[in-house]
Amino acid sequence: MFILYHDYSLLERNTFGIDVKAKSFLSFSDAEGLIQFYQSNPEYRNVEHLIVGQGSNLLFLHDVDELVLSSDVFGIGVLKEDKESVWIEAGAGIDWDEFVAFCVGNGWGGVENLSLIPGKVGAAPVQNIGAYGVEVGPVIREVHGVDLQTLQEKTFTREMCQFSYRNSIFKQKWKGHFVVTSVVFELNKKPAFQLDYGDVAVEVERLGKVSLSNIRRAVIAIREQKLPDPETIGNAGSFFKNPVMEEEKTHTLKAKYPDIPLYPAGAGKVKIAAAWLIEHAGWKGKRTGRAGVHDRQALVLVNHGGATGQEIFDLSEQIRNDVEKKFAIQLEREVNVIG
Ligand code: EPU
Repeated sequence: MFILYHDYSLLERNTFGIDVKAKSFLSFSDAEGLIQFYQSNPEYRNVEHLIVGQGSNLLFLHDVDELVLSSDVFGIGVLKEDKESVWIEAGAGIDWDEFVAFCVGNGWGGVENLSLIPGKVGAAPVQNIGAYGVEVGPVIREVHGVDLQTLQEKTFTREMCQFSYRNSIFKQKWKGHFVVTSVVFELNKKPAFQLDYGDVAVEVERLGKVSLSNIRRAVIAIREQKLPDPETIGNAGSFFKNPVMEEEKTHTLKAKYPDIPLYPAGAGKVKIAAAWLIEHAGWKGKRTGRAGVHDRQALVLVNHGGATGQEIFDLSEQIRNDVEKKFAIQLEREVNVIG
């Protein structure tokens, strides 16, 4: 099934809370609905489109002329299971954190560290969401959706997804051509806990025994302390990626700034905490008009109320310039700028 709307407000469909409209907005409840829409409205095949989930990683600069596609697929079910693991298929429209709560509630491990990440299930593979030492890629088995060029259903196995840090084939070769309708996860009935990152272990210990639900509680507590709730103050989580550099090139940086946080990022590479760079370029907690930098996590830009997308974008450019001047490092945006 599908429903086509016109002049549709996107205010509730972007966590920055930017007040823009979509000329046309298509909601579909399954792959057939999307395919049927294009077959019965062939004129839309020439209209540019934009795929939007919860809009937790988007910054709209102005009204959207493109057709907005919203994958409102909500089913969830177990495909198969054995003693070790369970394969579960979840619709792209399901709220990510509700999915995590469901898995933790059933005692299935693998996504508990990814608690409270804003967004929908369908965006998880696109962005290869990650937090507290875990990325979603390794627990994904399949991604189902529609190839918009052929209007055929298509399945990607995990290997085909080419997952890497905040990246996948859906942001590269298949960008704009593939709409996710559901994701198949393989979760663990005998979970291996991941407690290595930052304060997670300390927080879990404070709560009692190591368990899926205590990891979920710990991650939620840490996120609530550091990250602003988009319901209260508009934001899209980390605005920039943590830059990855050749290890050699970080030696002078480390000599000059001994406390700079660096993390190993595979063969001879090192990841630098962009939040530290932004803070040390003097931007933490700063405000320019209605846009600002969060006062507890410098990687997060916020809408203090009524900011336009352009105001937030301009602030991000000032930050990039200052970080480049001070550290000779170019920050890359994690958020997708539309317009
Ligand atoms: N730091 C600062 N100043 C700040 C904030 C942090 O110097 O204002 C330092 C911290 O002291 C720490 C380091 O930066 O040493 C890393 O900070 P944090 O653990 O908060 O994580 P992050 O690297 O800033 C990444 C993800 C987050 C994810 C956290 C936890 C990216 C772009 N961001 O942030 O993801 O929740 O790790 O795993 O990789 C998101 O993608 O939207 C997001 C919020």
